[in-house]
Amino acid sequence: MKLIRHLMVAIALCVAGSSAQAGEVEVLHWWTSGGEAKAAAALKQMMEDQGHTWKDFAVAGGGGEAAMTVLKTRAVSGNPPAAAQIKGLDIQEWAKLGFLTSLDDVADKANWDSMLPPVVSKVMKYEGHYVAVPINVHRVNWLWVNPAVFKKAGAEVPTTLDEFFAAADKLKAAGVVPLAHGGQAWQDATLFEAVALAVLGPKDYTAAFVEHDMDVLSGPKMVEALTKFHRMRDYIDPNSVGRDWNVATKMVINGDAAMQIMGDWAKGEFTAADKVAGKDYLCVPAPGTQGTFTFNIDSLAMFKLNDEENEKAQKDLARTILEPEFQTLFNTAKGSIPVRTDMDMSNFDACAQKSMEAFKSTADTGGLVPSFAHGLATTSAVQGQIFDVITNFFNQKDADPKATAKSLASAVQSAL
Ligand code: GAL
Repeated sequence: MKLIRHLMVAIALCVAGSSAQAGEVEVLHWWTSGGEAKAAAALKQMMEDQGHTWKDFAVAGGGGEAAMTVLKTRAVSGNPPAAAQIKGLDIQEWAKLGFLTSLDDVADKANWDSMLPPVVSKVMKYEGHYVAVPINVHRVNWLWVNPAVFKKAGAEVPTTLDEFFAAADKLKAAGVVPLAHGGQAWQDATLFEAVALAVLGPKDYTAAFVEHDMDVLSGPKMVEALTKFHRMRDYIDPNSVGRDWNVATKMVINGDAAMQIMGDWAKGEFTAADKVAGKDYLCVPAPGTQGTFTFNIDSLAMFKLNDEENEKAQKDLARTILEPEFQTLFNTAKGSIPVRTDMDMSNFDACAQKSMEAFKSTADTGGLVPSFAHGLATTSAVQGQIFDVITNFFNQKDADPKATAKSLASAVQSAL
């Protein structure tokens, strides 16, 4: 009797053991900075807890340009990963090419339709079917502030662009770098996006970067936005060329710089360095963008696979991502807010709580706009054109804002 019981336990363990090897998920992402890596590790752990194997496919490079290039090569050679961080309108492009699988069974079971805000679910679907799972919402229009540096320089935390320049002058005179920045095209675009939103307001921002209205793209307000953006060069240190965004964030953390304009993945770096929001650092809306919210949604698009076990692992991955436990673990490390608006926010810091409130309220007031610097507003073809114009402009000492606004419009037109 005892022997039979032992045998049965042994068989049960074997079965559990074999399902423990159940499937493998290969996940392409570019989460390699301190906060990002912690967030990705939470997902890996939760998949391993379910008996699956996590194959990490991290391609370093902020904004994900390098990751997208590598993904294309892998997909074209017929060997895509199970999941890849693909965002915004690109999801539609990949689905149209027939690469992505439907997640409708997982989505129906967990009722994603009622759990997700429509502004999110719309992006995740192709022809009415879920092909990607949203992970979080990042707010892009933030200003990160080191309050001790401000205090020392006798400067006030700015709420408008004019106040920004006034504070930056004081900080510069006090011998600190006013604005931490990394000279990479996507970071230039992220900075420009914040300035453009301040000058244009959400309506004209949308007209320019979502609807591609040529008059707004080349108009006087765009010229003003470009002029103010260019002025920011005066407050960035000469070593910014090629600098990674998280290195720039470190400058604010260490007090080598006073501010950074960056999405809240920067908060992941403050958190990883054990800094406390509201005390060691402040998060305020990027100057002149109060009442608006530039959103960037991270999402994993799921590729068609031909192995049943791996498909199961892929579905488990999709399901896990929208469960509350993961939403809290991942997003507290990453700096973002949950993509589910029904989540308890008490475990999140003050910045995330403010972000969630703003995400909800701006959806009603019209202040909620997609980020073009992070692929949520337009196609990658248009985005690439905008990046080129903006980064060339920002890198020229005597660039002409009027001519650049015209080039911006024609560059966008050429990619439509
Ligand atoms: C964004 C992405 C974030 C963050 C950031 C820096 O585009 O959505 O998750 O990783 O780039 O790499």
